Amino acid sequence: MQKRILKKVGRGWFTKPMHIVKMRSKSSLQGKVLKKYQGTFTRAGALRIERMVLDYLSFLKQTGIPTLETKVKLIPTKNNKYRLFMLQPLIEKQNILSEKLKVCSREEALDYFRQTLNYVNQLSKFNSRGAEKVGLDLKPKNYAIVNGKVTQLDFFPPQIKENMQVNSRDLTEHLGSRMLRGMTRLVGFPVDNRIEHALEQHFSPDFLSDRISRHFTRVRPELKKEFDKVLAQTKDL
Ligand SMILES: Nc1ncnc2c1ncn2[C@@H]1O[C@H](COP(=O)(O)OP(=O)(O)O)[C@@H](O)[C@H]1O
Ligand SMILES: [Mg+2]
Repeated sequence: MQKRILKKVGRGWFTKPMHIVKMRSKSSLQGKVLKKYQGTFTRAGALRIERMVLDYLSFLKQTGIPTLETKVKLIPTKNNKYRLFMLQPLIEKQNILSEKLKVCSREEALDYFRQTLNYVNQLSKFNSRGAEKVGLDLKPKNYAIVNGKVTQLDFFPPQIKENMQVNSRDLTEHLGSRMLRGMTRLVGFPVDNRIEHALEQHFSPDFLSDRISRHFTRVRPELKKEFDKVLAQTKDL
């Protein structure tokens, strides 16, 4: 067994990304961020999820939304199941959009706001063209600033509709986070339809623009008027 020194770099609903600081032997994993998703899959299930994530990444490229370089890894367990991992370059904490927004200049904040709103337009264009439709979980924690560009770093669950529907059962049964399982216990019935509803909204341009505005305004209330102006301009296009 190789000795790794792991450092937690964040926490989301589905994964706790770890930075692989050091390995005993030379490895391509060193310096990378590893996201391990909860639960195990059958081989067929694992391959299906992998395909969905890869499709999602490829559709996002086609929309023109910048994506962080991401590799999907399926690792077999002892009992013929598979675990799902994603491997990415490390983003410095201050470049995660939610952190950056707190301290960046007015010009930068407006630039990131414009870029993000523009993704909603690019998404609509893509979604009106073909059979495949993609959605976005547009919150600042899922994006980073890479070379000045707002870049997506969270690709799970893969938000694709039509050919391959987002299967909310995958989320609750196999990958449901502690929070989702907690919610299920709390309300006394499976939260599948709530998740489905939440995911559905990620395909709606109006919902997405409003959500971006809310997030940006919460962090930079002093720029509210300017955000509103940009939003109005974008909607007129
Ligand atoms: N490649 C990365 N480098 C550094 N930090 C990261 C990276 N990817 C994610 N993070 C941090 O971990 C958090 C959760 O990651 P994310 O992929 O959004 O997981 P989830 O799918 O569980 O929401 C992010 O908000 C960010 O702070
Ligand atoms: Mg996330």
